[in-house]
Amino acid sequence: MSLSTADSTGPLKRLRRLRGTPAMRDLVREHDFSLNDLIYPLFIEEGIKESIPLTKLPGISRLPEQALAQEVKDLFALGIRYVMPFGISHHKDALGSDTWRDDGLLARMILTIKETCPEMIVIPDICFCEYTDHGHCGVVHNGDVENDASVENLVKQCVTAAKAGADMLAPSAMMDGQVLAIRQGLDAAGYKNVGILAHSAKFASSFYGPFREAVESELDGDRKSYQLDCANGRQAMQEALLDEQEGADILMVKPGTPYLDVLANLRQETHLPLASYQVGGEYATIKFAALAGAIDEQQAVFETLVGFKRAGASLIVTYYAKQVAQWLAE
Ligand code: PBG
Ligand code: ZN
Repeated sequence: MSLSTADSTGPLKRLRRLRGTPAMRDLVREHDFSLNDLIYPLFIEEGIKESIPLTKLPGISRLPEQALAQEVKDLFALGIRYVMPFGISHHKDALGSDTWRDDGLLARMILTIKETCPEMIVIPDICFCEYTDHGHCGVVHNGDVENDASVENLVKQCVTAAKAGADMLAPSAMMDGQVLAIRQGLDAAGYKNVGILAHSAKFASSFYGPFREAVESELDGDRKSYQLDCANGRQAMQEALLDEQEGADILMVKPGTPYLDVLANLRQETHLPLASYQVGGEYATIKFAALAGAIDEQQAVFETLVGFKRAGASLIVTYYAKQVAQWLAE
C-alpha cells in the first residue's frame, strides 16, 4: 500500500501556503545576508593621479593612493566594515620585495586605511603576483615557482602587513605549508591576534581574467602548478582541511559560483567559518548581462549572495559590496 499524498480535494501537503504573501515568505526564509557578511576588495595603484576605470569590471576603478582615505570614509559611511586592499605596484622585481618593506605599497595602504578609519577591518590579500616582474605568485626558479622560498617571503610580507596594522591576512599564493609558516611567523613576531583568512581551495580559473587586467599582472602562462584543477573537489577538501590543521581562522573557496559544491561539502567537514570569493569574472558576468538588459542586476546579485550563504558561507568577498550597500540604503 502506498502512502497517499492526495485525496479527492487535492494535495494534502500544500507548500505554496508558505509562499503566498511577502510576510509569509519573510517568516520562513532560511538565509539572508547583510553588510556584516561582505568584504569589499580595493585596487590601489601607486604613482597615479587620477582613478582608472576598469573596462572589464564596469563600476570598479583603480584608485590613486591619495584617494584611498576618502574612499574608506565613504565606504564606512555606507556601512561597509571590511575591506581587502590589492596594490598595483610600480616597484616590481623578481621577488616582489616591495611587499615586505615597511614603506612599501602594501604597508602604506594598510596604514592609510587604519589611520583614516580605525574601525574599518583590513584584510589584505597576501601574495606576490602584483609585485613581481614575471607575475607569478612567488619565487621563480628553473621555470617553476619554488614553494619553500616563496613561503619564506610570504612570512616576511605577513609580518610587515601585521606591523602596519592589518586585522587579518588573506594569503592567496597556494603554496604548500604557507598557513603554518605564516601562523608561526606572526606568533614569533608578537602578532598572535592577527588572523588568517586562508585562500584554501583556490582554483585555477578563467574567471580571474578581469582581475589580471585590474592589477596589471605581468603573467605569461598560467598558475596551474600551484592553484587547484577545476575538476578536483576532493583535492580541494584536502587543501582546506590542511589549512585548518595549520592554524587558519577562516577557510575560503574561490571562485564562488562555479564551486558551490566544494563550499557545501566543506561545510560538513569543519566548524570554522567559511568564506566565498565572488571573483572578477563572476562580477563581470552579471554586470555585462545586466548592461545588455538580459537580467535584473540587483536580483541577480542578491540571488548569488544568498546562494553563497545557503551553500555554507559566513562571509563573502565581492566587488558588488559597495553597490549592495547603496541598494540597501535606497
Ligand atoms: C592572485 C589573486 C588572484 C585573485 C586574487 N588574488 C588571481 C589569480 O590567481 O590570478 C583573483 C581575484 C579575482 O579574480 O577577482 N593571488
Ligand atoms: Zn598571486
